[in-house]
Amino acid sequence: MLRVLVCVSGGGTNLQAILDAVREETITNTQICAVISNNASAYALKRAEENGIRGICLSPKDYVDRETFNQALIQQVDEIAPDLIVLAGFLVNIPAEMVKKYPNRIINIHPSLIPSFCGTGFYGLKVHEGALARGVKITGATVHFVDEGTDTGPIILQKAVAVEPGDTPKSLQQRVMEEAEWKILPQAIDLIANGKVSVSDGKVVLS
Ligand code: GAR
Repeated sequence: MLRVLVCVSGGGTNLQAILDAVREETITNTQICAVISNNASAYALKRAEENGIRGICLSPKDYVDRETFNQALIQQVDEIAPDLIVLAGFLVNIPAEMVKKYPNRIINIHPSLIPSFCGTGFYGLKVHEGALARGVKITGATVHFVDEGTDTGPIILQKAVAVEPGDTPKSLQQRVMEEAEWKILPQAIDLIANGKVSVSDGKVVLS
């Protein structure tokens, strides 16, 4: 049984997609053991509570400096001791020390086709604003392993989504979530839980 910790900052619709997939058994061999949020009012914490899952709030605002917060985060994660950490809209930079401790055991969902519209400054609606400003006709979502860079780790799954005439950042965000994110994030967890994902030469191999 893969023990999964989900880290979320906001509404948690990706968390909900994971919880639904575990319940419907499209994700197998997996238990969601805890949810961490950096935001006490995140609706994601309510979703955790409603599903009988331990919800933990760890906010950088409650610590004297970033390093103290980073150490508290690592300590909390170590206490949970998950097999896999899923960043499902977690807008906190993961400390390099944590990436080293959990190599190829942290995954992230990003709302574009990496390497487009990713890296520092590209998160949430900003990603879709960037796609619309560039006038791309296809965008999508990517699930990747987290390494020391921002959105630079090995790519596990990607799914393309059409940009429609008249799209706004919000309408595009919604379509990318519905057609891509809520599908490939649960799918990636299921693949990992069933031993079908390995990394070779910095690239993911699916079996
Ligand atoms: C999702 O669109 C996710 O891809 C994005 O934040 C949103 C969270 O929504 N993540 C990033 O931009 C990371 N760079 P949710 O809380 O409803 O799942």
